[in-house]
Amino acid sequence: MERTSASPLTDSVFLDRWSPRSFSDKAVSDEQLSALFEAARWAPSWMNNQPWLFLYETDGPDRADMEAIISEFNRGWATKAPVIGLIIARPGLEGFMARTADFDTGAATMSFTHQATMLGLSVHLMGGVELDLAFEKTGLDPEKANILCGFALGYQGDASALPEKLQAKEVPSPRMPTEQFAFKGLTPQPRPE
Ligand SMILES: Cc1cc2nc3c(=O)[nH]c(=O)nc-3n(C[C@H](O)[C@H](O)[C@H](O)COP(=O)(O)O)c2cc1C
Repeated sequence: MERTSASPLTDSVFLDRWSPRSFSDKAVSDEQLSALFEAARWAPSWMNNQPWLFLYETDGPDRADMEAIISEFNRGWATKAPVIGLIIARPGLEGFMARTADFDTGAATMSFTHQATMLGLSVHLMGGVELDLAFEKTGLDPEKANILCGFALGYQGDASALPEKLQAKEVPSPRMPTEQFAFKGLTPQPRPE
């Protein structure tokens, strides 16, 4: 499915990004990783709180533990990616600013992801992570950090390397039209069934 926009002004980065499961073994360079984290760094956050935390591994000593943290239903394909990691919101503050820490971290995540697209790389986010193990291995305090998701990062690989049932899913997915979620004024229309 080719992604299209109803607006000619939409930048291609938003249409080109999607979440493949096939990754090639081509390495992601430190320079590329640095560009992705710089993109995340400049994301907005409430009161400039910058609550995001990215933990990642390539082929270092924490690779096996990082792979174990990825839930079984994602592990088969995700661990082929040269970079895997965790995205965490760490509010650091009490009260009202903590309320948007997850949102702010999501903003940083999309900056990270779109920068990846611009460099010809792909990111696949994964809510499917073993949370208890992730807290144990990272030493993060569940009272002070919200482990939001894992990610796989790399160059898209050949879909034929995936199990057959995943090969069929290896295409960009559709979206609801903007008329179903963007409304002028204060009266939303009900979400379609
Ligand atoms: C927070 C979050 C968690 C996700 N968890 C998973 C996951 O565990 N496994 C998976 O295969 N995809 C996961 N995805 C990917 C979504 O299924 C995907 O983004 C969505 O279907 C839209 O497809 P696209 O990213 O290709 O546009 C997750 C995405 C997000 C944002």
